[in-house]
Amino acid sequence: MLSLVVLISGGGSNLRALLDASQDAEFPARVVAVGADRDADGFAHAEEYGIPTFSVAMSNFADRDAWAAELLAQVRAWNADLVVLSGFMKLLPPDFVAALSPNLINTHPAYLPEFPGAHGVRDALAAGVTETGASVIVVDNGVDSGPIIAQERIPVEPGDTEASLHERIKPVERRLLIQAILDIANSAIDLKELT
Ligand code: GAR
Repeated sequence: MLSLVVLISGGGSNLRALLDASQDAEFPARVVAVGADRDADGFAHAEEYGIPTFSVAMSNFADRDAWAAELLAQVRAWNADLVVLSGFMKLLPPDFVAALSPNLINTHPAYLPEFPGAHGVRDALAAGVTETGASVIVVDNGVDSGPIIAQERIPVEPGDTEASLHERIKPVERRLLIQAILDIANSAIDLKELT
């Protein structure tokens, strides 16, 4: 059984999908804790499932490195096999990444390497592309630049807004994330080989 720590910043719909999937006794992974850089709305999903949460706000620290060191300590306390960034919107410094790599993965609402960063959906719309996508990657020291575990194309429809497009991307992201975790748990994907 693969143990997961999930880090979020917002509503946690991908987290919710993982928690729901874990209800199936056959699903080979379990979320052991959920962390955030704030008092995230998505904590409600963890609480509903009786899963512990922790929050480490950057504003309580002198700099990003001090913040990330505390976040890493909290993550490590759970001894998880895999850490999932699921809508976690802060950049993590190299020490954090090195400590967990390659067992640190991220979901992104674009077909990477297209449209990395915090506004993947908005940037795709602004570029006027006819299709974008969703990706699950291994985290490296760049911005959404790590090896791709899974990705899928999603068409941009005429009249799409950032919200409508993101709502169509998210179910694909969830499916890719759950499949990636299944594949990692079943050794169909070896994260070390990807990195
Ligand atoms: C997801 O679409 C995730 O890919 C994105 O934030 C959303 C979080 O939704 N992450 C990024 O853009 C990271 N660069 P959620 O909180 O409802 O799961």
